[in-house]
Amino acid sequence: MDEKLKQVEQILKKYGQEQLLDGYNRQPGEKEKQDFLNDILTIDFAQIEKLYEASKKAKDFSKSKIEPIDYVDKSKLSKKEYEKYSKIGTEKIKEGKLAVVTMAGGQGTRLGHTGPKGTFDLGLDSHKSIFEILCDTLNEARKKYGVDIPWYIMTSEENNEATENFFKEHNYFGYPENCITFFKQGKLPMLSTDGKILLNEEGKIKEAADGHGGIFQSMLKDGVIYDMKSRGIEWVFIGGVDNVLVNMVDDVLIGMAEDKKVLAAGKSIVKAGPKEKVGVFCKKNGKPSVIEYSEISEEMAAETTPDGELKYGESHILCNLFNIKAIEKISKMDLPYHVAFKKAKYLDKDGKVVTPDKPNAYKFESFLFDAFESLDDMAILRVKREDEFAPVKNAEGVDSPETARKLYTDFHNKSKK
Ligand code: UTP
Repeated sequence: MDEKLKQVEQILKKYGQEQLLDGYNRQPGEKEKQDFLNDILTIDFAQIEKLYEASKKAKDFSKSKIEPIDYVDKSKLSKKEYEKYSKIGTEKIKEGKLAVVTMAGGQGTRLGHTGPKGTFDLGLDSHKSIFEILCDTLNEARKKYGVDIPWYIMTSEENNEATENFFKEHNYFGYPENCITFFKQGKLPMLSTDGKILLNEEGKIKEAADGHGGIFQSMLKDGVIYDMKSRGIEWVFIGGVDNVLVNMVDDVLIGMAEDKKVLAAGKSIVKAGPKEKVGVFCKKNGKPSVIEYSEISEEMAAETTPDGELKYGESHILCNLFNIKAIEKISKMDLPYHVAFKKAKYLDKDGKVVTPDKPNAYKFESFLFDAFESLDDMAILRVKREDEFAPVKNAEGVDSPETARKLYTDFHNKSKK
């Protein structure tokens, strides 16, 4: 028997993943069979086993000391302070020290759009896609600061080709092509509820992007950090693809980070109420952190300050600025993985494609904000929800194209006045 097959069989037996042999047997030819074995050999089964075990245990926060974090309210800055920050930040941008990264590697399962989320038509009269909407902001910044800001787009194995093709077809939305770089994030196998690695519709290992926390290692591995350094970049704004009001080029944010001598800054908006499902910035054991809505106790979520605001009310909106030095440091660290329960099409043991209508599979993701704890400090800038946050998450209802469209239109009508 093939030596490689023997080796794979032993590994699968050791980790209780023998169902993958069905996948091997179903491969049509010798080349496909060898590719399948090679794919299996790239999997870190011990890691997958650990992740599955950890998914069954609840996290214990009782040992962590959680405190509120200081923030600066952008709308309450004195004219003098605002101008100071803006001047420092403007200089940095004009000197070409800023790069922007858009994280577009997610699966967007809740939106249910076929294709990368950035290619979604928001339904404006212009029929602009989310990518074009984001690019508009960068084109405006080019005019305002007189500099081409390098734009890096993180994709995943699943959507990289479709994303790159979309940009090509649309002529890069008028942005200089040599300022746009795509890079792919990492991936991990998806598991059934009993911990078995799934096969995808094509009979290959079912893999999914490993979460937005994978960005730092991918930036290192794919040469993005090197590229940024060779362009003289000092500050990197990292945001999600699915906020159509994301303000990626903010001189005040950069100026504040420089002035406070911190290596990272994050934007927050006021949490709508104790029950809103958002993570909030806090200090955990003295370090900046984000506590998720699923992890905060009801009492803590409802605590208020003497002026009646929520004590833990600075929502994290995935709009963060990092110094390149911080990115380099974090890229060499392993962030923890969290488990998400998602809908995932797969091939069953009879070789039939199953399209579930409710979540059926575990996906493992690391979160960008878990990196905050490795930094001594972070500056938080509170911004207005209606100016900077219009998420597109669900097909309908809250945070849907409909709500985002309204927020987007209201904001742009207001700024025209
Ligand atoms: P979400 O956490 O909303 O996930 O991503 P998602 O995959 O887009 O959507 P659902 O949960 O399947 O419906 C927030 C941001 O992080 C990016 C997304 O593209 C989005 O901009 N992201 C998420 C990645 O780039 N990679 C990932 O692995 C996960």
